Amino acid sequence: MKVGLLGLGTVGTGTAEILLSPSGRNPLLKEIEIARIGVRSLSKPREVALPSDRFTTDLESIVTDPNLEIIVELIGGIEPARSLILQAIKAGKHIVTANKAVMARHGDEIYTAANEAGVYVLLEAAVGGGIPIIQPLKQSLGVNKIERVTGIINGTTNYILTQMQHEGSDFAEVLAEAQQLGYAEADPTADVEGYDATDKISILASLAFGGRIHYDDIQREGIRQVNVTDINYARQLGFVVKLLAIAQRDEHTHGSLQVRVGPTLVPEDHPLASVNGVNNAILVEADPLGQVMFYGPGAGKGATASAVVSDILQIISVLQSNAQNHPLLTCSHQNYCTITPIEELETRFYARFLCGDRPGVIGHLGTCFAHAKVSLESVVQIGFQDNLAEVVVVTHDVQEGNFRQAVESINQEDINVTSILRVL
Ligand code: HSE
Repeated sequence: MKVGLLGLGTVGTGTAEILLSPSGRNPLLKEIEIARIGVRSLSKPREVALPSDRFTTDLESIVTDPNLEIIVELIGGIEPARSLILQAIKAGKHIVTANKAVMARHGDEIYTAANEAGVYVLLEAAVGGGIPIIQPLKQSLGVNKIERVTGIINGTTNYILTQMQHEGSDFAEVLAEAQQLGYAEADPTADVEGYDATDKISILASLAFGGRIHYDDIQREGIRQVNVTDINYARQLGFVVKLLAIAQRDEHTHGSLQVRVGPTLVPEDHPLASVNGVNNAILVEADPLGQVMFYGPGAGKGATASAVVSDILQIISVLQSNAQNHPLLTCSHQNYCTITPIEELETRFYARFLCGDRPGVIGHLGTCFAHAKVSLESVVQIGFQDNLAEVVVVTHDVQEGNFRQAVESINQEDINVTSILRVL
């Protein structure tokens, strides 16, 4: 299966890295070849080892190349991405893209062209980076009636708001720091003014509620005006401030939607309140499922490439499937995995002992653990039950067999283990 890659920036490089090291991943990946790569400059040094004769600056020659079946568009922005996608569709290619802006604003003409040409346009990487959300909305959650989608879907602004909250610094200061660390772009407009989140919620709303969305109908507000004083007052009242993107059915009208992006006070015990830093999360409320939250890295080389390659895999599996055999639905495993014996598993343990309150008890515990090569992280005498002392220990990572051996040697007349729990 020959694939043409448009763009070899961060996500393109991550995509190539996955495809060039297929071992341990889905066996279908071995069938994918990056046959052509479109770049802006041929002289730029590249992190991935791909033959130089596959590179070109002539992107049009890739989208019209009759040997290619899938075009992966990773150049971003509106043009020339839009024209190249449309040209590729016209030439009968399937499309995989991470480009939220072009899909949110020109999805109408792109999907119309794709439906006419009988090709797929997949965009898992466009929203939430590596978090699977597009496919779940289309498939796994498809039998549900979606009531609301609430997302923290811009990592840059979530990082800035988290830092403002934790450090008490103001917006400009945190933005400058985020730019230095590479978390924010030199031109941060798309992120801090909410355009990026608006593109993404437009795509999610369309999938969740089964209709196209006019991008300009979405109410958008960024985070520039969010003040550290308000963040502090919000905290005193039990809230954190997040840039939320929300799409929900309007309860007061028949069939219309509310779709908006803006800084919002979120109760501290809400599942989205603890989503911090550059992470993203999408909370879907659905009938009859209830609440389900998708959480993880919303950007970055490997994470976004994971979503890109999963879309390539989807297309290949559809192209290869027949009535008896869909590669992603059938089970093709023939070997058994080797499972490590339980006594060799490594974990931390919590154990509570009830002991006679006499000299040397703790020493005895320590000696037994030491003999069994069990290293302790903490030993706490936490109290008494009747006239017995209650001692709790937490171990470092140890082999389960060694821990069990230690406990066996500890259990004596006046020392009994009363509970053992594993510690993550
Ligand atoms: N700029 C985006 C963010 C990542 O900050 O979340 C790409 O969608």
